[in-house]
Amino acid sequence: MFRRLKHCHNVEDLRLLAKQRLPGPIFHYIDGAADDEVTYRRNTAAYADCDLVPNVLAGVAEVDMSVTVMGQKLKMPLFCSPTALQRLFHHDGERAVARAAEKFGTMFGVSALGTVTLAEIGQMISTPKLFQFYFHKDRGLNDAMVQRAKAAGFNALALTVDTITGGNRERDLYTGFTSPPRLTLKSLLSFGLHPGWALNYFLREPFELAELKDFVQQGSNVAVSIGDYFAGMLDQTMNWSDAEALRAQWGGPFCLKGIMSVADAKKAVAIGADAIMVSNHGGRQLDGSRAPFDQIAEIADAVGDQIDIICDGGIRRGTHVLKALAAGAKACSGGRMYLYALAGAGQPGVERALGNLRREIERDMRLLGVKNVSELNRDMLRYR
Ligand code: LAC
Repeated sequence: MFRRLKHCHNVEDLRLLAKQRLPGPIFHYIDGAADDEVTYRRNTAAYADCDLVPNVLAGVAEVDMSVTVMGQKLKMPLFCSPTALQRLFHHDGERAVARAAEKFGTMFGVSALGTVTLAEIGQMISTPKLFQFYFHKDRGLNDAMVQRAKAAGFNALALTVDTITGGNRERDLYTGFTSPPRLTLKSLLSFGLHPGWALNYFLREPFELAELKDFVQQGSNVAVSIGDYFAGMLDQTMNWSDAEALRAQWGGPFCLKGIMSVADAKKAVAIGADAIMVSNHGGRQLDGSRAPFDQIAEIADAVGDQIDIICDGGIRRGTHVLKALAAGAKACSGGRMYLYALAGAGQPGVERALGNLRREIERDMRLLGVKNVSELNRDMLRYR
């Protein structure tokens, strides 16, 4: 069946749209995860193990779904997690996601492995912007990234803590996916079968990792797998004092992305972090690790009054967001939920993805009998 954007009513429809448009290796880079992808599937399945208990006759004419995280007011409780290499998925790359996020008044996370400069994104949108930081061995690069994010007016910085080495992405091993894509007979064949993507990739502005290219060739001019990039470029000695020093150097709202345990959530509070993204990197790193939603309640019980908790990953429905908020998260975030849409249709695609989810959140708040997300609580949840 040939798919069109106007018939994409949910994340799965958008996933199939992306599959239709992208060469196989690129689709599988987005869609794939580590080892047996057990954690990736669990990230979404976890929501189905918890049921909502609505309250009726609550007179919900208007709903207010706005939230405040990392000091930023968002018009919806779901934002775009930072994800790498966006120009590879669509020629507008981060520009498309930035403009769509601005329209919805939500936050856009820009990856250190992004393909548009922070300066350009900073000029482009006035809504909240999060810079995702990878702690490289090259301290000059680290310092430059902090300076550029400050200069570009980014509102918050998130240090990713779950990637000191690459996850075992077996789909990428089968397809030979690298950044930038290697031109082999096999990859050229897959590009030829997807001419819409290929013409835009080869004829428009060249692919590069905008903030990294002055410091490292890998990823922009030298093709590497993401696993090799993590293992080779990132600092495997990164520890809590490094995180604390980065927070001080940044000086603004600071988040740790990839916290999963209560013990680490307490340490995040101790170093003065403002937020944690409870995340397993979309199941792309440690397979067999727990889903973010499964961890929210215990982390919220321990530190929910001291730090903003964001449930990152597995979101496919508005009800998933509402369950995470009821369990104790301040907001949710997701990568694939908008990346499929970016790949499938650029900015209108991302707007469709965010619009579908916003509509679901609004409808489901009415059906649950809540006017404001702060009314969501554990009494509305039952675990099977
Ligand atoms: C990934 C990185 C780059 O998961 O975030 O592929």
